[in-house]
Amino acid sequence: MLRNKQALIPYLLLFAALAGGLIWHESENVPGLGRSVITGQADIGGPFKLIDHTGKPVTEADFRGRYLLIYFGYSFCPDVCPTTLAVMAQALDKLGPEARRVTPVFITIDPERDTPKVLADYMKAFGPSFVGLTGSVDAIKDAEKKYRVYAVKKPLDPAKPKAGYGMDHSSVLYLMGPNGKLISFYDEAISPDNLAKELRQKI
Ligand code: NI
Repeated sequence: MLRNKQALIPYLLLFAALAGGLIWHESENVPGLGRSVITGQADIGGPFKLIDHTGKPVTEADFRGRYLLIYFGYSFCPDVCPTTLAVMAQALDKLGPEARRVTPVFITIDPERDTPKVLADYMKAFGPSFVGLTGSVDAIKDAEKKYRVYAVKKPLDPAKPKAGYGMDHSSVLYLMGPNGKLISFYDEAISPDNLAKELRQKI
């Protein structure tokens, strides 16, 4: 969730980066621009080495051949994360049997508290197809970078350091294709109906 205006700035930058990548992606199809095109996709995603909610090490290659709906957040999030995960769950319900082709993935931005066990319990609230991913602080930072995720720790009460922390974070749903490339992204305000409609069109 985003708690203040300062947090909004990197969020907007993230969207500019995402949109820029997609606009660039479209413009490459325009003949005569003379651009040298390296890939046909916005530069989002890539290899990761994480641990799933059952404690098993996984890489992005383990998900090849499946559509992924990826969301970065943290299980202690009081509002936006659980709401967005619920939207994902509802959209997949609405999608019907086609939903079998999509794996919903929650990648924690708070690996210190979100252990596999914590994620296993958390994922249960959203459905059996949900996969929770955690890992070392460095591995998570690396994944955040590849998905242009903004996430910073923030004390719940600056006057009381022992009161714990929350996370300011960007809130984006990424739809990745079976080849591991980004297909599209959505902000957390998307409704279950619209997300289901998008998935029906794009998978
Ligand atoms: Ni959150």
